[in-house]
Amino acid sequence: MMKAMRREPVDRTPVWLMRQAGRYMAEYRAVRERMSFLELCRNPKLCAEVMQTAVEKIGVDAAIIFSDLLLILEAMGFNLEFSAGDGPVLHNPLRTATDLKVIHELMDVSSLDYVFETVSETRKVISRDKPVIGFAGAPFTLAGYAIEGGGSRSFLHTKKLMYTRPDVWHEFMERIARSAARYLNAQIDAGASIVQVFDSWVGCLGVEDYRRFVLPHTRLLMELVTTGTPIIYFGTGNPALLGEFAKVGDCALGIDWRTSLTSAWKTVGDDRVLQGNLDPAVLLASPDFIRQEVRRILTETKGHPGFIFNLGHGVLKETPVENVRILVDAVHEGIS
Ligand code: CP3
Repeated sequence: MMKAMRREPVDRTPVWLMRQAGRYMAEYRAVRERMSFLELCRNPKLCAEVMQTAVEKIGVDAAIIFSDLLLILEAMGFNLEFSAGDGPVLHNPLRTATDLKVIHELMDVSSLDYVFETVSETRKVISRDKPVIGFAGAPFTLAGYAIEGGGSRSFLHTKKLMYTRPDVWHEFMERIARSAARYLNAQIDAGASIVQVFDSWVGCLGVEDYRRFVLPHTRLLMELVTTGTPIIYFGTGNPALLGEFAKVGDCALGIDWRTSLTSAWKTVGDDRVLQGNLDPAVLLASPDFIRQEVRRILTETKGHPGFIFNLGHGVLKETPVENVRILVDAVHEGIS
């Protein structure tokens, strides 16, 4: 994985999966019967164990820390809850200039020490040849949750604030970018060898809005991350934004299934490391179909240095674990 991140030749294609530890796995569901999701996130030893179990069971080449994107918002002043069924809720969404007063930039990230402990505990239990991946949300995706007060399809509150109060928008986005960079740097200090920045909802924007309202802040975040640590920027949902994503910095790009890797390389340049891009729904199909789709992607990327196999988004909770194992084995077997 580290070699692929540097575009060096590899013996076999590295593979890991977003949401590789989660509800599709019986061991994870058993842990969750004993405690809430947030209680689990605040228990570093158990987070490390949950990820170790997943990595060993499915045989992937990297361990992302078991944690959540929204914990940093809690540390910044949002009241976060994961309610069963409804997903995450933030009870004090940011809608006005006045709301900015209770939301602070994280100058000091010590209120998130439990996450850095998760990094170091994960490092202890995962075999040395596999990197531990730290992560944070990208400014737009974090701002989206903070402004909507939870998930959304349309992001109307977010867009309305962006268009009507650009001053508030830019101030908030900058606070998030600086806070997220400190958060990632502390994960790096604790033992993360790679960091991934999730822009899970940015696809709701058009190119011009991304350029005006988002790009400068994503770029600031990337610039502030400790030099020398490879970064993966995962922006999903709208392939028309790929050309803009290439401007966020010198990082690898996570690609979803909506575009082919060949056309992504055409847009962002052949010298860019890419990660992706199997549709997670393929894991609901037959073993033969899964192997066929893996071969298709491996054929497409053969001979192209700088490729990491992943899904185009997280593993779905309906996924049979055996199918994940079939996928990982097929990537490792290769096509020759
Ligand atoms: O295995 C891993 O990838 C590591 C752990 C991880 C989780 N969340 C665990 C989790 C990671 C990297 C995340 C990131 C995350 N969290 C993102 C970005 C990735 C993406 O999918 O785009 C986002 C948007 C979140 C916010 C979030 N957390 C939502 C929207 C939800 C509810 C989702 C749902 O399907 O109910 C969560 C909860 C969450 N995060 C779970 C897990 C395993 C499920 C919690 C549970 O019910 O047990």
